[in-house]
Amino acid sequence: MIITVAIDGPAAAGKGTISKAVAAHFGFAHLDTGLLYRAVGAKVRAGADPVAAAQMLDPRDLEDDGLRTPAAAQAASEIAVIAEVRSALVAFQRNFAARDGGAVLDGRDIGTVICPDAPVKLFVTASAECRAERRFNELVGKGMEITLDQVLADVKIRDARDRNRAEAPLVAADDAVEIDTSDMTIEQAIAAAIEAVRSALGIC
Ligand code: CDP
Repeated sequence: MIITVAIDGPAAAGKGTISKAVAAHFGFAHLDTGLLYRAVGAKVRAGADPVAAAQMLDPRDLEDDGLRTPAAAQAASEIAVIAEVRSALVAFQRNFAARDGGAVLDGRDIGTVICPDAPVKLFVTASAECRAERRFNELVGKGMEITLDQVLADVKIRDARDRNRAEAPLVAADDAVEIDTSDMTIEQAIAAAIEAVRSALGIC
């Protein structure tokens, strides 16, 4: 059976953690679509043409740990405004979404552009300050030297670029369930997401 769970939201909203937990709970596969844009951005920083890099992207390119840095996130959001880059990545995402056994995809335009017919759409958000603090703790936990102000600036710049671009801007789908995690622990956010998926799929 094809079941697609679309999880969108602004930078560092916790989509990754929530998506992984939802996928594990229901036994679905998970695709972090941000990694596609981060991998293309990294190739462009290394001198590649953005459209060619997107067209030739290999799933193995997504396994690079270096894609999790703020610099890679900025590079991703810069190439994510290019229409031809986005369209080169559509088929891979739709194929993943259509796999047997269910799939969770998280990103910016999953519920609006990639899988507009997904039976479950969540829009996960939180204040910019909360999101920056969580991402700061995550990066410091990985040993990165960075300040909270730098992370907050990164989040705000990417949000503005993602929301204001002409192509597939960051916006909640009309039929998405919004989950504001500002005042939630990660456990509460995961529980809210699982409950929303259960209710949308009619599972008791
Ligand atoms: O994890 P975080 O929310 O910080 O970022 P991400 O999901 O890895 O996405 C990195 C960047 O890729 C975003 O700021 C967007 O510009 C872009 N992106 C996109 O345009 N569409 C998607 N479906 C996923 C990411």
